[in-house]
Amino acid sequence: MNRNEMLERLTSIDPAGQAPANEPERQYFYIAKLKKHVETVIAELGRKPTCCVTTFGCQMNSRDSEKLAGILELAGYELIEDENADFVIFNTCTVRDNANQRVYGRLGELKGMKKRNPFMKIALCGCMMQEPSVIEKIKKSYGFVDLIFGTHNIYKFAELMVATFEQKGMVIDIWQDTDKIVEDLPVERKYPFKSGINIMFGCNNFCSYCIVPYVRGRERSRNPQDIIKEITDLVAEGVVEIMLLGQNVNSYGKNLKEPMTFARLLQEIEKIEGLKRIRFMTSHPKDLSDELIEVMKNSKKICRHLHLPLQSGSTRILTAMNRRYTKEQYLALAEKIKAAIPDISITTDIIVGFPGETAEDVEETIDVIKKVGYDNAFTFIYSKRTGTPAAAMENQVSEEEVKPLFDKVLKTVQEMARKRVQRFAGQTAEVLVEEVNDHDDSLLTGRMSNNTLVHFPGDASLIGTLQTVKLKECHGFYYMGEIL
Ligand code: 5AD
Ligand code: SF4
Repeated sequence: MNRNEMLERLTSIDPAGQAPANEPERQYFYIAKLKKHVETVIAELGRKPTCCVTTFGCQMNSRDSEKLAGILELAGYELIEDENADFVIFNTCTVRDNANQRVYGRLGELKGMKKRNPFMKIALCGCMMQEPSVIEKIKKSYGFVDLIFGTHNIYKFAELMVATFEQKGMVIDIWQDTDKIVEDLPVERKYPFKSGINIMFGCNNFCSYCIVPYVRGRERSRNPQDIIKEITDLVAEGVVEIMLLGQNVNSYGKNLKEPMTFARLLQEIEKIEGLKRIRFMTSHPKDLSDELIEVMKNSKKICRHLHLPLQSGSTRILTAMNRRYTKEQYLALAEKIKAAIPDISITTDIIVGFPGETAEDVEETIDVIKKVGYDNAFTFIYSKRTGTPAAAMENQVSEEEVKPLFDKVLKTVQEMARKRVQRFAGQTAEVLVEEVNDHDDSLLTGRMSNNTLVHFPGDASLIGTLQTVKLKECHGFYYMGEIL
């Protein structure tokens, strides 16, 4: 459904009637109802109310935020980037504690704004809200918040927004889990030419440090037909690059009525005419199949990039992390991928300071970094997450012990990536032009198939197109180039 079809759908709804029981019809009913409330606000303010959706965390959250924005836009809000707005929603992350701390800090700043603007409403959603201790803290110390909901009922956003207009006090709706997937709700995309697509929700892996399975629930895959339809519609609207999203895309389809592998799904998506590039995130090394490597190798559209989180290079630590692969198995997998697809870029996530980790374990991680040759790596200091098995382990490592080890890993990652990224210098590459350069508006910024950024002179009219670019100079993690 495009925007006009959605607006038409809204006009056929009587917001004073009964709410339908089925989804997504029920949510369209509530969007129509919300629109009525917004019209009252418009009459009082003499303008459209503004709203700001702020995203913390990963690409899954970014995609969820586009869904929130889609509903707000359809209901009559004006989307802005400034948090000094009539409605602000924080889509939160809780994967590491510093993400939580940032939310509390920003929430404090909103308090003053709300005092000055009697129309202002504030909502919180996302992973952090699935933690009972967080809800307690917000109720106690941030009583000015109007709405809180979690990850499982995000599709109910319109219904909950209506409740903030019709009920007194804080509206709180948190579910423990769900097997429900609601299709066909509105989405307001950030980029016209590229889009994320959820292919699955949740995670069943229970890595011992990770809170995701507790806050995002069990793994559920979307039906392939729904995914294909969504992508086909997006392509018709001008999207040329998609990013398939899931916590562990390699186990896609296992729980479907008619099971299907991720590699098969990719083959189906490849057939969509007009689609130029396919990306995906994240791959768990234990589930990455030979079938997938073969499909990637033979594909014209799947990008030459694989994000393959290592977490640690020490088999002892990997076992304690419940990652279910050894250092040797990971290295063999990386070799196999590089042999099959020589121009691929591999990137990774690394955690330093897991309980019991010693300097020797970290040397094993550094050894893997050197052997694999990552184009980029995200390095994190271990963060203790309440409720995970690792949080209960006795041998937690102190900050002072972790810091020098973390610095050493980061330095190795940067040195290696610098060497690795420059291997394409002097060659030409196909680049998807994404935006005008942040620092110099005579330059454009684009992305190579392997995810490396390239900056080059050009006109903003080229945004969203694929261009052949000469990679003239490598500056660490990116290239300066020239359109041919
Ligand atoms: N502490 C530090 N990093 C973590 N990650 C997940 N949980 C934690 C934690 N408790 C990292 C992992 C994962 C990435 C998304 O976040 O490296 O791959
Ligand atoms: Fe967390 Fe592991 Fe699931 Fe990734 S695979 S979300 S690290 S539990």
